[in-house]
Amino acid sequence: MPLPPPGPDTRVLVTGASSGIGAAVARALARRGHATLLVARREDALADLAAELRELSGRDATVHAADLGTDAGLDAVRGLLDSPDVVGLVNAAGFGVTGRVAELADDAEQRAALDGLVRLNVLALHDLTVAAVGALVRRRRPGAILNVSSITAFQPLPGAASYAASKAFVQSFSEAVHAELSGSGVTLTTVSPGLTRTGFADAAGTDAFDRVPDLLVGEAADVAEAGVEAMARGDRSVTPGLVNQLTALGGRFAPRTLLLPALDAGMRLVEG
Ligand SMILES: NC(=O)c1ccc[n+]([C@@H]2O[C@H](COP(=O)([O-])OP(=O)(O)OC[C@H]3O[C@@H](n4cnc5c(N)ncnc54)[C@H](OP(=O)(O)O)[C@@H]3O)[C@@H](O)[C@H]2O)c1
Repeated sequence: MPLPPPGPDTRVLVTGASSGIGAAVARALARRGHATLLVARREDALADLAAELRELSGRDATVHAADLGTDAGLDAVRGLLDSPDVVGLVNAAGFGVTGRVAELADDAEQRAALDGLVRLNVLALHDLTVAAVGALVRRRRPGAILNVSSITAFQPLPGAASYAASKAFVQSFSEAVHAELSGSGVTLTTVSPGLTRTGFADAAGTDAFDRVPDLLVGEAADVAEAGVEAMARGDRSVTPGLVNQLTALGGRFAPRTLLLPALDAGMRLVEG
């Protein structure tokens, strides 16, 4: 079992734990009896969740407030991964920016948001994954990492170009490292959700989720269950839900000459 069973000296570190998918993953881990170490910027939200998780698991849940978009925040969280009791890492912190690059380019705030997106979704995830792989493999004990990608990883997405590209990085990097780790006792799993009801749409400044049928928007708890199950088994990747699996297949195999104009038109419709 790549994610070791919960023990008195084991913890799983979860980034992005103050809301949405990260919080749901922390709950799914706590339900399985894991102690957790919760990371995000909003300390109050983390503290509330930690109290809930202690009740749920009967185990410890601790909080570390950090901005992973800064060097100081990232350095501190990387340091936590050296602690021998950290046997798992979940990289859920991330956000999206919607809009056309030509329009975003003229707005200093939006350009800063795009820069922050790459720092968090790509650089921080990469940095923490590399650090965790090194620490876990050095210890020669089982360990597991779960990286949160997206179905946008499987094709370019006009209207969310930087976000989809960041998730393509997450997916490609994580799948390659999964293969590298074969036989090491350490595993790296990727979960690739579709639209999911969380704080994501607000953070991305879009009401696009309100314009798609409810049926197409999943629940964070379902994504978390699928992700944690796959992490516990050490699977390469999981895409929760049939519609999302079909969308991912389409993204992978449809010719780009047909797919990109269709996606561009679809995104213009939800952009309103
Ligand atoms: N919702 C969807 O439709 C969807 C679909 C596919 C993939 N995803 C992915 O799922 C992951 C979780 O997103 P979500 O949907 O759960 O959205 P969410 O509810 O907005 O959660 C995002 C989490 O990231 C944390 N975060 C944001 N900026 C941070 C920073 N600079 N430093 C540290 N933590 C930071 C937030 O905490 P603080 O604000 O407290 O820092 C929050 O806990 C993301 O990687 C996202 O790309 C979401």
